[in-house]
Amino acid sequence: MLEKFERYPLTFGPTPIEKLERLSKHLGGGVEIYAKREDCNSGLAFGGNKLRKLEYIVPDAIASNADTLVSIGGVQSNHTRMVAAVAAKLGMKCRLVQEAWVPHEDAVYDRVGNIMLSRIMGADVRLEDDGFDIGIRRTWQEAMEEVKAKGGKPYAIPAGASEHKFGGLGYVGFAEEVRAQEAALGFAFDYVIVCTVTGSTHAGMLVGFAKDGRARRVIGIDASGTPAQTKAQVLRIARNTADLVELGQDLVEDDVVLIEDYAYPAYGVPSEETKNAIRLCARLEGMITDPVYEGKSMQGMMDLVQKGHFPAGSRILYAHLGGAPALNGYAYAFRNG
Ligand SMILES: Cc1ncc(COP(=O)(O)O)c(C=O)c1O
Repeated sequence: MLEKFERYPLTFGPTPIEKLERLSKHLGGGVEIYAKREDCNSGLAFGGNKLRKLEYIVPDAIASNADTLVSIGGVQSNHTRMVAAVAAKLGMKCRLVQEAWVPHEDAVYDRVGNIMLSRIMGADVRLEDDGFDIGIRRTWQEAMEEVKAKGGKPYAIPAGASEHKFGGLGYVGFAEEVRAQEAALGFAFDYVIVCTVTGSTHAGMLVGFAKDGRARRVIGIDASGTPAQTKAQVLRIARNTADLVELGQDLVEDDVVLIEDYAYPAYGVPSEETKNAIRLCARLEGMITDPVYEGKSMQGMMDLVQKGHFPAGSRILYAHLGGAPALNGYAYAFRNG
């Protein structure tokens, strides 16, 4: 589906699919749970889902003759870390806007984890007071103007690389990759679980899996806490992406399956249940998930399995999208393990 698009390789290649044997058994053994390890996809600053998206955005950035990548996220944004890594790899400058999206408890929240890595990689990191919003932001536009005023040539990458014309392509590629892996495994997955916030991961998967009728088998677990905005953004990006790849199918609102029940109490703030899901997954599988994103989708998947949401015998693919560096900003929450 992606042959006509230029791709700049930033990842190692197809990511492994691993069976989560002990977790499946712990949850009753009625379903088989697998993880696709997008968190292990690259040697660039611990990797994660943004790299698949950026692989299709970087050719446009290079073609624009930009010298500075400008992007935005929360203080512990994984996305801005990935943009900083890509800028370093390309020999470009990087200007990052880090907004106060999360009320936090740890005194070193703005010193450790993702933001520390971005600073080490040489990005110009600036903290702003604005709160959570997945849309296009004033602060980000101002950063672009500032780069221009200093004689630089900015290239704009929105939050999560989502509201970019090519933002959805990378996860169309994920679906194609899964199809090829399914052919080798000799079975197809019944459900794919994905954590959804700025939307292009889910949107790309939806388009990629729509090709074989599985759009609604992509189960988004909302971690934004603003599900109406997130759902609308997923549909918008999915439609744009479907046009780009000439899917030849209309996508409708019901194609976006987004479960809203696990984002509480707020974006970036883990509930007791999220923390317990992080601990359980770590203790059964040695697989690390984070309090902002994957811990919430892990919690959601576990809860849905336990509630019998998936028919017996279902094979579920949990997309592990990365994010573990943010854990450093949550040392207080895990002070006793
Ligand atoms: C680790 C992790 N998981 C999930 C997501 C959600 O992806 P998206 O923003 O494309 O919805 C993000 C980014 O926002 C992320 O960094």
